[in-house]
Amino acid sequence: YARIPIIVIVLLLALSAISASSFSPSPANGSDTDLGALLAFKALLADPHGVLARNWTGTSFCHWIGVLCSRRRQRVAALSLSDTPLAGPLAPHLGNLSFLSILNLTGTSLTGSIPPELGRLRRLRYLSLHENSLSDAIPIALGNLTRLEALSLSFNKLSGQIPPKVFVRLPKLETISLTENGLSGQIPPNLFNNTPSLKYIYFDDNRLSGQIPPEMLLSVHNLREFWLNENGLSGQIPPHLFNSTPSLRIIYLDNNSLSGKIPAEMLLHVHNLEEF
Ligand SMILES: *[C@@H]1O[C@H](CO)[C@@H](O)[C@H](O)[C@H]1NC(C)=O
Ligand SMILES: *[C@@H]1O[C@H](CO)[C@@H](O)[C@H](O)[C@H]1NC(C)=O
Ligand SMILES: *[C@@H]1O[C@H](CO)[C@@H](O)[C@H](O)[C@H]1NC(C)=O
Ligand SMILES: *[C@@H]1O[C@H](CO)[C@@H](O)[C@H](O)[C@H]1NC(C)=O
Ligand SMILES: *[C@@H]1O[C@H](CO)[C@@H](O)[C@H](O)[C@H]1NC(C)=O
Ligand SMILES: *[C@@H]1O[C@H](CO)[C@@H](O)[C@H](O)[C@H]1NC(C)=O
Repeated sequence: YARIPIIVIVLLLALSAISASSFSPSPANGSDTDLGALLAFKALLADPHGVLARNWTGTSFCHWIGVLCSRRRQRVAALSLSDTPLAGPLAPHLGNLSFLSILNLTGTSLTGSIPPELGRLRRLRYLSLHENSLSDAIPIALGNLTRLEALSLSFNKLSGQIPPKVFVRLPKLETISLTENGLSGQIPPNLFNNTPSLKYIYFDDNRLSGQIPPEMLLSVHNLREFWLNENGLSGQIPPHLFNSTPSLRIIYLDNNSLSGKIPAEMLLHVHNLEEF
């Protein structure tokens, strides 16, 4: 080492610094990824009132309307544009907003299907796509949203069956709302086996058929409301359906094709019932 002139070492260090900064690819900047995702989201929407066209300009997206960034970094934590007419499909790029915890697009005239890429939003706690015109099936990938507390897909045009395993990894889920869609087929018997936090089940106004699975509420001890009305459910009400739901306040089963007697023991364990 002593024989290598200092100047050579300095030159070598300088060269390696230059090549590291300008020739090797820099690691992805999450903030840039979020910007790209928001622009891709905007690009697919008709935005008839020009809300995004007027407001989502420049690159400082933390100041854009409907965008909330996390306190510590320039990353999107919430995207809330409820009741803003957006009109169009959801870009799969939304799945790249890896710090997102709230996605609220209630009443924004969305069309097309729900991108399975939304299942990549590991930090998502609240997802509302309530009151849009979204169609096709519920993507099974939503079952990967392990921190989800509230899921509302109500008032859309979703069809197909409720995926049997969609909630098995959602231990924090408190609210599931699928009201007024075109969902059909049977209610999967073990749908709620792993959702102990569940308080509200809104499955009303769909095309669900078959019997109410007798075991479907066995693990949801905190259930407050249970809406299955306006469907095509048939058979008798399972006598022990409500045995492990002592906090139930509201039960709606009307406007189905249920038959047989109302089981005498059905409400024995439901002490807080307000509406049936
Ligand atoms: C990422 O990019 C944003 C804006 O483009 C910049 O403010 C931020 O400092 C960058 N972060 C890193 C770690 O390079
Ligand atoms: C966008 O909306 C935000 C929040 O309402 C506002 O503070 C900002 O000035 C608007 N920006 C533009 C370019 O209109
Ligand atoms: C989502 O938007 C709806 C409609 O504006 C509002 O009632 C609801 O409180 C919002 N939820 C969250 C978590 O932002
Ligand atoms: C973001 O998501 C889209 C579509 O899901 C993908 O094509 C793209 O490569 C992703 N990554 C970045 C860094 O934008
Ligand atoms: C859920 O996440 C796991 C692990 O990240 C992945 O292997 C799987 O493909 C995802 N499932 C769906 C349906 O996207
Ligand atoms: C029961 O459902 C039918 C068909 O969907 C509907 O026409 C009717 O208004 C509903 N009845 C009640 C009481 O909601």
